[in-house]
Amino acid sequence: RTVAVLAGGLSHERDVSLRSGRRLSAALRGEGLTVAEWDTDAGLLTRLRDERPDAAVVALHGGEGENGSVQTVLEMLGVPFVGTSSQGCRRAWDKPTAKALVAKADFATPDWVVLPHSTFRELGAQAVLDAMVERLGLPLILKPDQGGSALGTQVVRDAAELPTAMVGCFAYGDTVLAEQYVDGVEVAVTVVERDGGPHALPAVEIVPENGVYDYTARYTAGLTDFFAPARLNDTTAKAVGELAVGAHRLLGLRDISRTDAVVARDGTVHFLEVNLSPGLTETSTVPMAMEAAGTSLGEVFADLVARAIR
Ligand code: DAL
Ligand code: MG
Repeated sequence: RTVAVLAGGLSHERDVSLRSGRRLSAALRGEGLTVAEWDTDAGLLTRLRDERPDAAVVALHGGEGENGSVQTVLEMLGVPFVGTSSQGCRRAWDKPTAKALVAKADFATPDWVVLPHSTFRELGAQAVLDAMVERLGLPLILKPDQGGSALGTQVVRDAAELPTAMVGCFAYGDTVLAEQYVDGVEVAVTVVERDGGPHALPAVEIVPENGVYDYTARYTAGLTDFFAPARLNDTTAKAVGELAVGAHRLLGLRDISRTDAVVARDGTVHFLEVNLSPGLTETSTVPMAMEAAGTSLGEVFADLVARAIR
């Protein structure tokens, strides 16, 4: 049996995906699987049709790899794959949609506004920025509404920084999600499906050395301290696990996901986003959570591949 690990691609997160793909492939080989590493490009459909792997694992990050496009191709060709369906991806990949659905189920998420680029032309840039600050206060966070690895994400502490930060964010897409800043402890919670359903692994606490968990802090060893499991009391640890499993269920995710959240100083847990194809690099939190749970990347994904095939 051959498993195709789909990595690379053409999104801004190509390099991260190649690192995730390499690590995952090695881990699956360690479990005795035959793995083909595919750098995913426009030839994907033809190659899948010609080579017909027994299963695929989507280790692509960003763009087509998480917005449901690649999943649609796999579904059309009937190739079993590990990860969320195209429909689930379309729903959860859009951060404002995911926040709205999770908020509807009474989980806390920082207040937010969605700013399509056109609103700036229609209403005037200053009016839009003023209304946003009035609604959310400062500091606030700007994020591309779709994207990953914190690319384009900006923490804004002073209204004077807003125009430049907006431009930096719009570089990654034409809609910005502006979110209230919640001061607290950042955690990443991996959810894995086993026969009984989705289970949260121990939360991983993220402490970036310079205070901001940006692209560099994510992927440069030593720039961020990770605590697995997170240093939370039992009640909070339970709450973050319930949030992650809740989000996984509400958004219709499959096999594996990672929910990012912040535990505010008062102990309340706030949902930030879900990740459909979470990073699996040497500095990513998902493999750390698996180790903390007493298992491993290879063991978990070998099991998910077996589930996908049967
Ligand atoms: N988007 C990156 C890969 C992550 O969520 O880990
Ligand atoms: Mg993300």
